[in-house]
Amino acid sequence: MREAVQKGKADFLARMGWAVLCRQKINRDKVNVLQEYSDGWAQYRSYLKQADSLDQWLRIPGVEDVPGFYNVNGQLSYEAFDSAGYYRGELLNALRKYFPQGRSVTEFGAGVGRNLLFLKREMPDVALYGYELCAPGVDVGRDAAAKFGINVQYSQLDYIHDGSEKYVFPVTDVAFTMFSLEQVPRENELAVRNILEHVKLGTIHIEPVPEKYPLSIRGLLGRLDHWKVDYLAGFDKAVRRLGLKDVIIEPVRSAHNPLMFPSLYILRKV
Ligand SMILES: C[S@@+](CC[C@H](N)C(=O)[O-])C[C@H]1O[C@@H](n2cnc3c(N)ncnc32)[C@H](O)[C@@H]1O
Repeated sequence: MREAVQKGKADFLARMGWAVLCRQKINRDKVNVLQEYSDGWAQYRSYLKQADSLDQWLRIPGVEDVPGFYNVNGQLSYEAFDSAGYYRGELLNALRKYFPQGRSVTEFGAGVGRNLLFLKREMPDVALYGYELCAPGVDVGRDAAAKFGINVQYSQLDYIHDGSEKYVFPVTDVAFTMFSLEQVPRENELAVRNILEHVKLGTIHIEPVPEKYPLSIRGLLGRLDHWKVDYLAGFDKAVRRLGLKDVIIEPVRSAHNPLMFPSLYILRKV
């Protein structure tokens, strides 16, 4: 049994490696992000309709609780791992540890806004806001907040190109991104500058930073894969140019993608 599992993992890794090597290099820009995520988030309307509880919305039955290959504690694992729940737990721990005085939080690139509904359940006294590029994400986020009676507000914003009139929420104590800067490979420094301008204390980022990946087979394949799909690049150097009070980095030990080894960045302004 154990040998069969090991063989399954080796086969999977070989297939992934081959897929990465054969993959065409793409150039990610606003047009393809808008297309990918507008279509993707629109599909969540039917999941929201089916969800009878917040728990079902945060982990969609039959979609997000099925076995697959994950990076769990640094190991390639085949299981029904709740990767989104894991990231939200890491985010909550980081908020409590690094910004315990924070009374208001904004997510930039909130998707359908589920991270914020989770945070509101855990921290009911904190004011929460979400900005998202794609209109279907904003719409589904608003409908979900209304359906579950949770006070979180969402609005459409391109945090790279939009002017100040689109920042409709108050400046908050803290802001975070979760796998959103990954979508802006070359403009991530500008993105973080814009986000930092709208917070008082600092920011948290859970993002794949390939420079920090281990020099293992999966770590190297992950670096190649992320370069080919044009994910976040040069982030570690970029944040050091910002003149911040503190840059704290911690590894994120598990991931939804077996070739991903994300990092947690804490950027403190004061
Ligand atoms: C991988 S999804 C992550 C969504 C959410 N943070 C989560 O953890 O479920 C990345 C999101 O970032 C958004 N995004 C990418 N570029 C953006 C920009 N310039 N302004 C606002 N949102 C952006 C995308 O539209 C997408 O919804």
